[in-house]
Amino acid sequence: MNKTILKWPGSKAKVMGELNKHLPAGNRLIEPFAGSCAVMMNTDYPAYLVADINPDLINLYRQIQEFEKPLTALAASVFAQNADEESYYSIRKSFNDDAGMTLIHRAAYFLYLTRHAYRGLCRFNQNGGFNAPYEKTAKPYFPNEEIQAFAIKAKRATFICADFTETLAQVKAGDVVYCDPPYDGTFTQYHTNTFAEIQQRQLAQKLNELATAGVPVVASNSDTSLIQSLYGDFERHSITAPRSIGVAAGTGKKANEIIAVSRPAKSGEVAA
Ligand SMILES: C[S@@+](CC[C@H](N)C(=O)[O-])C[C@H]1O[C@@H](n2cnc3c(N)ncnc32)[C@H](O)[C@@H]1O
Repeated sequence: MNKTILKWPGSKAKVMGELNKHLPAGNRLIEPFAGSCAVMMNTDYPAYLVADINPDLINLYRQIQEFEKPLTALAASVFAQNADEESYYSIRKSFNDDAGMTLIHRAAYFLYLTRHAYRGLCRFNQNGGFNAPYEKTAKPYFPNEEIQAFAIKAKRATFICADFTETLAQVKAGDVVYCDPPYDGTFTQYHTNTFAEIQQRQLAQKLNELATAGVPVVASNSDTSLIQSLYGDFERHSITAPRSIGVAAGTGKKANEIIAVSRPAKSGEVAA
């Protein structure tokens, strides 16, 4: 398994073996909820459209894509010079208050903050300010090899900061869509927005439309009655996955998830 640059709530890293069984081949993988890019890093499509609503996440990916070496050098020096709690809060303050910060500095600080935050939390307040506390017992890891591997894979990718509706509007014939939204009934605030039932319904409606149009669609979510009903026309596979957020994180407890799959019928195959 290829490891990711960031620890991320809801990362698919640990279930890629299961997920890969359901992802068909295609010209391009569209990922509207990219998070840590665990899926991009553990699949092999000719091209990727990688999107997320979090602008700092996408800025980090773009900076690595274009400026891998200077970004790595800058981030390594920020890690080396700011190991203690006081430095963490000082960097967090600059990150939140300095509107004129260059994009490469912002990317280096974002990587530093997420790697030094309590449990690797990437948490923002309503104004978009990063507000995760310092991880006192942290032995911060600098993800050098993960950045290198990402930069190679990123040559095939386009990164956009966008709401899922905008990303899904770009789907064309030959694409495969994989959606890993904030899960129904769980922690839903990844950035300043929330992901409530209305967004789950909008997403499912769009994915059902794409599936009807013959686009292969795969979606992960929690195994709730709402999700079962929204994806009633999809094949639904149950899996258990380690909880990565909330009080059960790191306790070994598992959550029930589903992988909903819609694949176009091959010619000669009778649709179910
Ligand atoms: C479950 S996580 C994805 C995890 C990812 N598959 C991984 O392996 O790391 C959900 C992601 O959706 C993003 N997100 C939340 N609301 C969104 C929206 N309306 N449009 C696009 N992305 C959104 C969050 O920033 C978060 O990164």
